[in-house]
Amino acid sequence: MTDLAGHAPGPPPSFEQAIGRRQKARAAGLDPDYWYAVGQSSHLRRGQHLETKFLGRSIAVFRGSDGQVRALENRCAHRHIELTRGQVVDCKLVCPYHGWAYDGDGKAHIPHDLFGRKEPDIRIPTVPVRERYGLVFIFPGDPEVAKTRDIPSIPELSGPRPWPHAIVQFDCPGHHSMLLENVSDFTHGFLHRKFQPFQGTDLLRCEEIGDRVEVEYASKIAAGRLQDMFIDRGDGACDHMRACYDYPYHWSNTDDRIKHFLFTLPLTASSNRHVFIFYLRPGTIRLPLLGRVPRRVADAMMKLTRLTTLQPLLGQDVWVIGHEQQGWERYWDRPAPELSPVVKAFQDLTIRKWSEYLERRGSERPGPVVPAESLSR
Ligand code: FES
Ligand SMILES: [Fe+2]
Repeated sequence: MTDLAGHAPGPPPSFEQAIGRRQKARAAGLDPDYWYAVGQSSHLRRGQHLETKFLGRSIAVFRGSDGQVRALENRCAHRHIELTRGQVVDCKLVCPYHGWAYDGDGKAHIPHDLFGRKEPDIRIPTVPVRERYGLVFIFPGDPEVAKTRDIPSIPELSGPRPWPHAIVQFDCPGHHSMLLENVSDFTHGFLHRKFQPFQGTDLLRCEEIGDRVEVEYASKIAAGRLQDMFIDRGDGACDHMRACYDYPYHWSNTDDRIKHFLFTLPLTASSNRHVFIFYLRPGTIRLPLLGRVPRRVADAMMKLTRLTTLQPLLGQDVWVIGHEQQGWERYWDRPAPELSPVVKAFQDLTIRKWSEYLERRGSERPGPVVPAESLSR
């Protein structure tokens, strides 16, 4: 029964209670046993820390004076104050209250009187962390799995001469599935009619293969007049896009010239951080009348494109998904006719992977920090 405002009777259902594909997808989490980008390396300088979250779990990420990044559960083992309230000293994160200093192994070094005891071995959980492609990644799941599962390989961004690229990062209200669906659902071109990032949206293929949904569209990419002026389309027209929900990531490839990779981090059940990297084959960027531009100019032009096109364009998605979330919270019990097979396939994969994770985890819960028994009473 709805209330007087016509809203659903309560908050959206849990994954277990959810009925049907859409409700299930909107209640699913993302499997923590993958690498998730928390932000750009350049935004975390030596001596700085940041708080990030994974589905509500707070994680402190900090860069020591040696330049290395470390990540810990964001909680002092002493009185459970957030460590990000403190500061980085040398290569340790120091709690602001009694000054317990945590190293990269999560071990607390206690600076005050120990009252005749030997320093107890008190630790907080660490979180595997790595840097690649100018981004900081954490592995919020099982650290043992982190040893065997790598960050996705992007050869075009590796090595000394990566393709010209632009990174766009934003925090977005809404369930993570909403934006992941959005990026492969070209039926929302109406929202972007001012920018026209794609023109023509014939779906050629949509196939679930293992942990991926592969999609192909006949669509002219970067079709807006301004973008078109600066793109050298080579022999083709850049009108054939392959896109993939490569769980839990998303990427696209248009005629091997225009590509993107998206890393989504579910901060909470209803907010996310998205880090897009757009990268263009060298020689794809041109200046009207002058033609192809040297590499350094292409890099600068990508930065400009980020400001003039990519950020405002993706800002439209952020805006609309915030509203989609509101609609979901108010009317989750109403039918929501879905015409796109792509959206359905994405939702099926999200649901299946979350079910598999829950099954794997069983009744296991994240263990508590191990304070020395004698000290915790
Ligand atoms: S609460 Fe952190 S050192 Fe005491
Ligand atoms: Fe969009």
